[in-house]
Amino acid sequence: MQLERMLQSQGFGTRRECRALVRLERVTVRGETVDDPFADLDTADLDFAVDGQPWRYHEKAYVLLHKPAGYECSQKPKHHPAVFALLPSPLVVRAVQCVGRLDEDTTGLLLLTDDGQFIHKLTSPRHGVLKRYIATTKHPVDDAQLAALRGGVELNDAPGVSVAAHAVERLDANQLSITIGEGRYHQVKRMVAAAGNRCEALHRVAVGRLELPADLAPGEWRWIHPDEI
Ligand code: URA
Repeated sequence: MQLERMLQSQGFGTRRECRALVRLERVTVRGETVDDPFADLDTADLDFAVDGQPWRYHEKAYVLLHKPAGYECSQKPKHHPAVFALLPSPLVVRAVQCVGRLDEDTTGLLLLTDDGQFIHKLTSPRHGVLKRYIATTKHPVDDAQLAALRGGVELNDAPGVSVAAHAVERLDANQLSITIGEGRYHQVKRMVAAAGNRCEALHRVAVGRLELPADLAPGEWRWIHPDEI
């Protein structure tokens, strides 16, 4: 792939902008400055740098973010900054999208990608990808509430439909682990409310097999491979 085209595909601007970056000798490929925007590159395991910042070529971008509270999963945030503000500009230029949404006050594992098929696969109810959350509750969790969440509760926008957790476990007097397969609007908070309690804080710890890395601080992101999920 031509260097300027490769840079454009990775979110470094228009072809003209990428050509200028190369001509200004701001780009190194595998450690060497390349000043020919049309240089032909093998993209396999391709490491390059722009203004000294190292990058690796990714045909599609798949990243995970430790979402802090106070950020919206929206391109047009209303009251808080968007999660995209936490990502470097090339990922934003590549137009990565959230794989499902977390509420503004929900923290934890958020996936983002520019692969539309991947988003569809992970968010489609048909695939039922499991998402695990830690919910901190206002009142102590009792056995009746656990039984209701396991057996199914009715949500106000779908009367007559029973929505059950895939798994529920009490972790502490006011904390439970809850796993769901769908992704309805405010689903966990509404399920906890329908079971007779109230969700005071919500943290997502896993999507499919992928867990939030313990060493990833709130606001930090990292590349992932889709096979990890
Ligand atoms: N369920 C909720 O209620 N909120 C989230 O952010 C995610 C799941």
